[in-house]
Amino acid sequence: MAYAAFRSIGAYVPNKILTNEELSKMVDTSDEWITKRTGIKERHIAAENETTSDMGVEAAKLAIERSGIDASEIDMVVCATISPDYFCMPSTATIIATKLGLPPVMAFDISAACTGFVYILGIAKAFIESGMKKNVLIIGSEKLSAITDYTDRGTCILFGDGAGAAVISATENKDEAIIDVHTGADGTYADLLMTPNGGTGSPHDSLEAEAGACFMQMKGNETFKVAVRTLTKDVKEILEDNNVESDSVKHFIPHQANYRIIKAVGDALKMREEQVVLTVEKYGNTSGASIPMAMNDVFEQGNLKTGELMLLDAFGGGLTWGSALVPFSPLKK
Ligand code: ACO
Repeated sequence: MAYAAFRSIGAYVPNKILTNEELSKMVDTSDEWITKRTGIKERHIAAENETTSDMGVEAAKLAIERSGIDASEIDMVVCATISPDYFCMPSTATIIATKLGLPPVMAFDISAACTGFVYILGIAKAFIESGMKKNVLIIGSEKLSAITDYTDRGTCILFGDGAGAAVISATENKDEAIIDVHTGADGTYADLLMTPNGGTGSPHDSLEAEAGACFMQMKGNETFKVAVRTLTKDVKEILEDNNVESDSVKHFIPHQANYRIIKAVGDALKMREEQVVLTVEKYGNTSGASIPMAMNDVFEQGNLKTGELMLLDAFGGGLTWGSALVPFSPLKK
């Protein structure tokens, strides 16, 4: 049987920074409020002509280079995004694959909001374990600034842009294998987080409506409560199902939505401060890109070593949620 190994990580962060101070000149808010309620100090914003695929390509180049696997050996590309280059087609994954010069391999996007990276990790694992694919490039890339309403203080303070990517490969060595991926969804909470217009559920009926049609809307406080409850349960379950003590997790890498959500879940799991990876302060919430961006920070700081166990968790629009237990398993040189 083939197992799926997490070989490498890469990320891309756009240059432009939008600080809390700058936001407080745009909407009725303050650095103090944003910092206290979310932990966010600043977020990065893509250039006007910079697309989700452009950012995904940069992250993917790093991930491929660090994987030690030749780009020609990649046999599937999956992109998690809610801010694709084009809403219906072509998929952002196909654009990324072509910009990278990959062979004409299977490529597609998935929409699971902030849980996207955990979902595509599960998809890569399943395709590899079934024997259908050997080297899967997964990318979370988001230009959330393009779907954020900068007159809505309830959402515009939260979101940023960026991308992260990873190469997942087949291995026969069980010690290298991704241990487990849990995923779930519950559409009864769909209205907590939505881009309400533009699809067949609520098509644009006029150009005027179209102007704000695809902006994110969120019932923040209710989302917050469901997030803490659902994540705590899900993460406890994945640890129990796999007989893993929270103490043996080297890096707890949660989706970076809000410091208070991360702290509540970390405390429920009795995580020590040094186990918890926090990047929300400098990147804000980058949805499907937030986990690989955070992981890349740990890697680039020299703190992600072979065999170290990572626990990922995420929660987002849908509602969707997921968690994963993943040893870092770069190819031996
Ligand atoms: N600045 C100042 N005041 C504000 C702001 C702001 N930016 N936003 C809201 N307020 C006010 C509200 O109007 C309210 O005022 P009132 O008491 O006079 O009515 C007060 O602050 C409290 O508002 P709440 O919404 O209750 O604030 P809360 O503590 O819940 O924080 C936040 C809001 C930060 C949005 C939080 O609820 C949150 O992080 N929610 C979860 C977000 C999340 O995890 N989303 C999932 C992933 S996103 C995705 O999938 C794309």
